[in-house]
Amino acid sequence: MNSYVVGVKAPETNLNAASVDGLKLHFVRSKGLVRDTGSMIFRSATNEEKYSNEQLPYGSNSDLLEVFELMRSLNQKGIEDASIGMQGITGPCLSDAFNQTCDVLARRYKGQSIDYVELGPEPVKTELLLSALRARGVDIASYTSIDINPASAGPMREAVSRVWSKIRIHHLSENFDNLTAVTLGKNNPVIFTSLGFQEGNHPPSQTHDLLTRIMRPGDLFLTEMQLYTPGDTGPIESFYKLDEMKRFSQNCLRRAYGNVDSVYRTTITDVAIDNATFKAAICHEEFIDDGGQIVCFLTNYCLKPTRDELRQLRESQGEFSVVSEITTGDGSLLLQLCERLPVTGPK
Ligand SMILES: C[S@@+](CC[C@H](N)C(=O)[O-])C[C@H]1O[C@@H](n2cnc3c(N)ncnc32)[C@H](O)[C@@H]1O
Repeated sequence: MNSYVVGVKAPETNLNAASVDGLKLHFVRSKGLVRDTGSMIFRSATNEEKYSNEQLPYGSNSDLLEVFELMRSLNQKGIEDASIGMQGITGPCLSDAFNQTCDVLARRYKGQSIDYVELGPEPVKTELLLSALRARGVDIASYTSIDINPASAGPMREAVSRVWSKIRIHHLSENFDNLTAVTLGKNNPVIFTSLGFQEGNHPPSQTHDLLTRIMRPGDLFLTEMQLYTPGDTGPIESFYKLDEMKRFSQNCLRRAYGNVDSVYRTTITDVAIDNATFKAAICHEEFIDDGGQIVCFLTNYCLKPTRDELRQLRESQGEFSVVSEITTGDGSLLLQLCERLPVTGPK
């Protein structure tokens, strides 16, 4: 667990610390929320603490299984409920957006074999994507899931086998930080996926470094992100009010502090990271500790770039090119597909 002293500037590439700073600034600035943050203790948990068990890196437990099941439940809702990402506007719902993305992928890979690598696996959207690709004539030679949460291995194997028993299935209980194209050892073109706004949980520089390490020229990367539309935070607020997000937050608090009475809050605020400022959704639990101090425990932070910001992040260093951007009808959920470009030597 990380704790921060009020007033100390967050390291630029640490999203936990940058989020704590963003939240403190929000408290200070917002009317109605004005309080002396100096009397509060701010703490946060890293992704590793949220999604794995440091004492038993390869062992699952009921808390980690709950984390995985909460994500599954959110995705089930997202796929089944056509109103999600629609906000009363006509146009593609989330499952339409996934199917349209598969049309783009099939134009490139129909009749070919590909390897599919999922960063942070989840079964509902994966089954949808793999089935839609197969139905469009793409041969999926192998499926690999990579996750620091060991609880996902069994359910992912079951879900992927349901799509087609002949796919070779691999699972790596590994931190993304330790991956390279060489360790992944794929022979076919690879489609990498990172769904469920997961990219927003990492500093942009970390995602960029990861993609440059694991993707070879021609490989594709599909990310699903919730976008910030200036002046309309409604879709972001609705998502973080869902019961699953509240339970996810409580799970994180319980693992750090045991059962304490707390209040779940979400804030949409500015976070300064990697020499830029982005909107972010920050979830925290507020409670009073044994010493009578208010503790503000950040349980989740997720960057919410605009569509242009995300494209800029991907393309700014010349290593990736965005090949498709499909949004839901209200423009709040984006499926962005990018390609790793050939390496052109030192500039
Ligand atoms: C926000 S959840 C999203 C899960 C899934 N992609 C979805 O659509 O619901 C983040 C996932 O990434 C995994 N994860 C987070 N940080 C990781 C890291 N540094 N290395 C490996 N896996 C990580 C978590 O265990 C979890 O499965």
